Amino acid sequence: MDDDHVQQDGQDGQDGQPEQRTGISRKKLLKVALAAVPLPMVLGGVALARDARTTQEPLVPTPYCDDGDDPTPQQTEGPYFKPNSPLRTSLLEPGTKGTRLTVSGYVFGLACRPIANALLDFWQADVNGAYDNVGFRFRGHQFTDANGAFKLETIVPGLYPGRTRHIHVKVQAPNQRILTTQLYFPGEPRNQTDSIFNPALLMNVRQDGNAKQGTFDFVLNVRQQPNPTGEPTGGPSQPGGTWAAGTDYKTGDQVTYGGDTYRCLQPHTARAGWEPPSVPALWQRV
Ligand SMILES: [Fe+2]
Repeated sequence: MDDDHVQQDGQDGQDGQPEQRTGISRKKLLKVALAAVPLPMVLGGVALARDARTTQEPLVPTPYCDDGDDPTPQQTEGPYFKPNSPLRTSLLEPGTKGTRLTVSGYVFGLACRPIANALLDFWQADVNGAYDNVGFRFRGHQFTDANGAFKLETIVPGLYPGRTRHIHVKVQAPNQRILTTQLYFPGEPRNQTDSIFNPALLMNVRQDGNAKQGTFDFVLNVRQQPNPTGEPTGGPSQPGGTWAAGTDYKTGDQVTYGGDTYRCLQPHTARAGWEPPSVPALWQRV
């Protein structure tokens, strides 16, 4: 009997390491808000950054995953990250087992303009939940094209004790800081118990025959002029609408934000940073 693999979700941080405690973050507060009720499947998909392109509003950067093993650019020796992954958009090799998955999307800066030649370095577990720490199976890097687009061909990663299903990635615009984060799958039971899980990092995943197609747009914390003419919009963000930080919302409540209407999925107290487009676990666009 292999009792060592009894699942102990939520007991440890990333990859068996204790999670770093750095005070009460927005992510932790969100978890508290979500703890009382199950996280639902987000029907209709997760909002993508590209959807905000018409609003001229600054985007919310993709969060860093504070998982205790994120190496800084100078410290690349995380438990499972390895530098010098091969340049390739497909992690599939002859005989690769597992459900085929494509992950595609765009890399944007704060003004929702695509970033060409951004580096994306992916690494993930195999179908059995194991990382290749000797070779480079399920590791690879690529660069966004002129439109800021990327596409990864891989498999749905397997589960391993203590974590929900995820894909690791580092994203870096040319000459900018590295974003180290993880992508998650909607509808995973362990999303409710993984202490690192962040709903802002959920991919849109849909079934395509026997395969799955995931989409996610990264927003790097890179300042950009809001339009090619260089005219700043000026002033604070004023998305408009009835949504307001500090309000207690109940399931089913409807608000408007940035010209769209959203329905509340989870009771919570709204706060800055939890604007409806940013937290698909809390708000569904209707
Ligand atoms: Fe991992």
